[in-house]
Amino acid sequence: MGSNKKKKTLLNPQAMPRHIAIIMDGNGRWAKRRGLTRSMGHREGSRVLKKIVEECYNLGIRYLTVFAFSCENWSRPQEEVDQLLKLMMDYLKNSENELKGKPVRIRVIGDRAGLPDEMVSEIQRVEKNTAHIEGLDLVIAINYGGRQDILNACRTLADDYKNDRITESGITIESFASRLWTAGIPEPDLLIRTSGEIRFSNFLLWQCAYSELYFTDILWPDFRKKHLHDAIVHYQGRERRYGGL
Ligand code: IPE
Ligand code: IPE
Ligand code: MG
Repeated sequence: MGSNKKKKTLLNPQAMPRHIAIIMDGNGRWAKRRGLTRSMGHREGSRVLKKIVEECYNLGIRYLTVFAFSCENWSRPQEEVDQLLKLMMDYLKNSENELKGKPVRIRVIGDRAGLPDEMVSEIQRVEKNTAHIEGLDLVIAINYGGRQDILNACRTLADDYKNDRITESGITIESFASRLWTAGIPEPDLLIRTSGEIRFSNFLLWQCAYSELYFTDILWPDFRKKHLHDAIVHYQGRERRYGGL
């Protein structure tokens, strides 16, 4: 109880990040340390995600973006890729029931052309069913890459220019951002990466230009509410200057 109380006084509810992004890393190492298969690590990671989504909602966070599968993750053994695809399908299928009435709108970002048809239909179904919900926006990055996101926006822009939908001077930071997969989503205030790796691994490269970065050695399946609180407390202690003084 005592430590719980202390945590609550540390977190400032008036200065919550509007948007938290998480690179959920370390499932494989978590499993290996326990003599389990990597798949079991991913399954545990998926359970943890549900808890963290709920906590973000409870804390009044508006947007949570999570990196579930990168464009580069296809290079893993087929068995692991299949397992990850299955877990993501299960997550999407069960998401509405498991959120137990918590208002969560789901949106998926990434290159859908590279996903199995049944997954694309499931994504469309969940997005449509939750589109009206106001509460927490859960953005799941599946087959996502920051470079691919930027390239795709460039292609859209080139097409719009060719067809006179935009002029050269109309190409601005805002009009470019509106062609990214994250269109309409504010930039992350706080980016968390678990498992001790200190790199972006091609996540939200454009969008994290001014995000505060938080790295922890905790492996994703071990990540708990208290670790989320720690990250937010760190965030709240930082001064964001955006190039000014
Ligand atoms: C993160 O855990 C999940 C995905 C990348 C899909 P990893 O599978 O990368 O776990 P480690 O980094 O091997 O421990
Ligand atoms: C980033 O983790 C991708 C996801 C968490 C989905 P990786 O484990 O794929 O990244 P690297 O290989 O360590 O850079
Ligand atoms: Mg990893």
